[in-house]
Amino acid sequence: MGMAINQLPRIREECEVFHLSEKQCREIMSRLHNDLVKGLGKDSHANSIVKCWITYIQDLPNGKERGKFLALDLGGTNFRVLIINLGENHFDMQSKIYAIPNHIMTGTGIALFDHIAECLANFMKEHFVYEERLALGFTFSFPLKQLGLTKGILQRWTKGFSCSGVVGEDVVQGLKDAIARRGDVQIDICAILNDTTGTLMSCAWKNHNCKIGLIVGTGSNACYVEKTENCELFDGEPGKPELLINTEWGAFGDDGTLDFVRTEFDRDVDVNSINPGKQIQEKMISGMYMGELVRLALVKYTRMGLLFGGRGSDLLYERGNFYTKYVSEIESDKPGDYTSCMEVLEELGLSHATEADMAGVRHVCECVSRRAAHLVSAGIATLLNKMAEPRVTVGIDGSVYRFHPHFHTLMCEKIAQLVRPGIQFDLMLSEDGSGRGAALVAAVACREREVQA
Ligand code: GLC
Repeated sequence: MGMAINQLPRIREECEVFHLSEKQCREIMSRLHNDLVKGLGKDSHANSIVKCWITYIQDLPNGKERGKFLALDLGGTNFRVLIINLGENHFDMQSKIYAIPNHIMTGTGIALFDHIAECLANFMKEHFVYEERLALGFTFSFPLKQLGLTKGILQRWTKGFSCSGVVGEDVVQGLKDAIARRGDVQIDICAILNDTTGTLMSCAWKNHNCKIGLIVGTGSNACYVEKTENCELFDGEPGKPELLINTEWGAFGDDGTLDFVRTEFDRDVDVNSINPGKQIQEKMISGMYMGELVRLALVKYTRMGLLFGGRGSDLLYERGNFYTKYVSEIESDKPGDYTSCMEVLEELGLSHATEADMAGVRHVCECVSRRAAHLVSAGIATLLNKMAEPRVTVGIDGSVYRFHPHFHTLMCEKIAQLVRPGIQFDLMLSEDGSGRGAALVAAVACREREVQA
């Protein structure tokens, strides 16, 4: 065998495009801050890219909620139905995951809601509550213009969904109609909420400092507690000093704001997605796209002769074949060990990879995931600075944050660098994200109804 030239330095050089300097992060923060302010403003809201929807969730749980509640969780890779029993200082929860087949994700809204209602009814049978009348919280993780706690108009689909006849419609009504079409179960839909909100609520049940909810999963988004006086947009009763805002920051960059840091790989992912031009920030961060970004970079470096002796594989050259979970697996290998990396490359038909190739592949993964962590951190630091509270806990969920071995640490370091001196923060993994959150919101809503009655 001839002496192979070590290409790692050239791969490192190429990967510089993924690096965000501190200065760039600060520029991103100031742009995001402007967009948030625009989203919250009465006159600027309509043209704002970052929408800052008001959630109409009025109270955080106080730990005194009791009873049996149902919850639905739609919007990631899985659809879940849950039943939760809230007791004193403990809760018990059972849930089941149902598939949303591809033809339903991209079919009609009616078929989607009928499918959800059917899963719900089956679940109720299996858990012996088919005959009961129960309250339900619905986590629906897409941009909703909320008109109340139980009314939300879908603004756009994200993350690969595209059911017809739902954009511009009230999603709660859609589900109610489907339940009525069946006519067999009795459900009170008490609340519809975003997964970020569910995550925040779920964490706030135990930790009263929790004022930001973050998802880094299939998609990327955050919600936070804002002073009512900063929300011109809000035209409800002023009563409460604070409101919970769903930023929908995944759309940040849709007007070109992030072009100064985007790469050819980001443009490729976007152009080939089902929603080109939309959710630009999300496409640089989240699990639905991260693996594909890595794959595109690997393909380019292979064609340049920097990887695999210039010999790729059919699988590598085909879209969607590099899963985001591979990034977490590859980066979980100890330094100098490439066990997972080798498995992944074998799966992709690249068993001719040398150790130098594996080091290169790992480096690409690290650069793409680190950039994602830094972008999320810039977002969180923007919120922390805007809130200007001495100490805030961020409740976090999502597959990327949960399974990537370094995401948490990368975020802690970066946020600490970007946040204003004197502001402290904690990053807390939500134990059961948005599902339990939805049940809690339903519980709080019921608590309030009883008080009013
Ligand atoms: C997408 C959705 C948003 C959700 C996020 C995380 O960005 O638009 O509502 O919170 O994904 O699931």
